[in-house]
Amino acid sequence: MNNFCNLSDIVDLKSTIKEAIDLKKNPLQFKVLGEGKTICLLFFNNSLRTRLSTQKAAQNLGLNTIVMNFGSEGWELEFEDGVIMSQNKSEHVKEAAKVISQYCDIIAIRAFASLTDKEKDETEIILTNFKKYARVPVINMESSLGHPLQALADAITIEEYKAVKKPKVVLSWVPHPKALPHAVANSFIEMMQLQDADFVLTHPKGYELNPEITKNSTIEYNQEKAFENADFIYVKNWSSYENYGQVLNTDASWMITADKMKFTNNAKFMHCLPVRRNVIVTDEVLDSEDSIVIEQANNRTYSAQIVLKKILENNG
Ligand code: CP
Repeated sequence: MNNFCNLSDIVDLKSTIKEAIDLKKNPLQFKVLGEGKTICLLFFNNSLRTRLSTQKAAQNLGLNTIVMNFGSEGWELEFEDGVIMSQNKSEHVKEAAKVISQYCDIIAIRAFASLTDKEKDETEIILTNFKKYARVPVINMESSLGHPLQALADAITIEEYKAVKKPKVVLSWVPHPKALPHAVANSFIEMMQLQDADFVLTHPKGYELNPEITKNSTIEYNQEKAFENADFIYVKNWSSYENYGQVLNTDASWMITADKMKFTNNAKFMHCLPVRRNVIVTDEVLDSEDSIVIEQANNRTYSAQIVLKKILENNG
């Protein structure tokens, strides 16, 4: 592996998930791999899990880590070609990416969608330009369109908890007061399409995601029907794709409750976190034995670690 920007950068997904689960049993076994090397984690947006788990994964592999909150600490970057930089943008990504590449061996980037300009978001302008101009491998820590490190952690978690070969997995939209990006849902859908799973997507009408991503997935608009016999309930809010970035409704009847979980096959409850209690899901469900959100977050370390390991092995 050279870059890790999309799930398609993983050559053999099945064996990668198995390797991550093995790595978890002895996380320090490849500590020499990153010795003398450095990873720069560049955050254009906030984070808890991604920042700490990627740092922990790097540490487990012997890598040094430099973290920069680029959005608040770096010079404001220009990404367009040929512009006259007479306004507020002080530095072009062409220099920034090349300079940062001299200080580290891997660059990891978090840069969310604006949710105001669909066309621009779909170019993934920050990630794409760093990939273009950096002279070292680039990792996506959540971009406009995807969160592949999260999806890999989700697949590891489902593999660990599944009781049948082909579980029924439901991704449900849930209400949220703010407009949230599509990245987590997009990558989870892509991941489920690659897994041996009976996958169902459920959301209110108007919350259809990019049809190019959902094209092979079953969509059920009745949430309770979707939940029938489910083994995993994965919940996430996203804003409208069609009416780009809009919150069309915050219908509380879509919140996950214990009564709703009764339609399932004692399903495990999953969410990428952070989660708003009693808006997305009730305390009762989140605090129940069937909630595996903490272990899901723990697996963020091993999804990052297996990706870093493969990049280090390929760029020795
Ligand atoms: N799930 C996830 O990416 O969490 P953070 O936004 O806290 O990194």
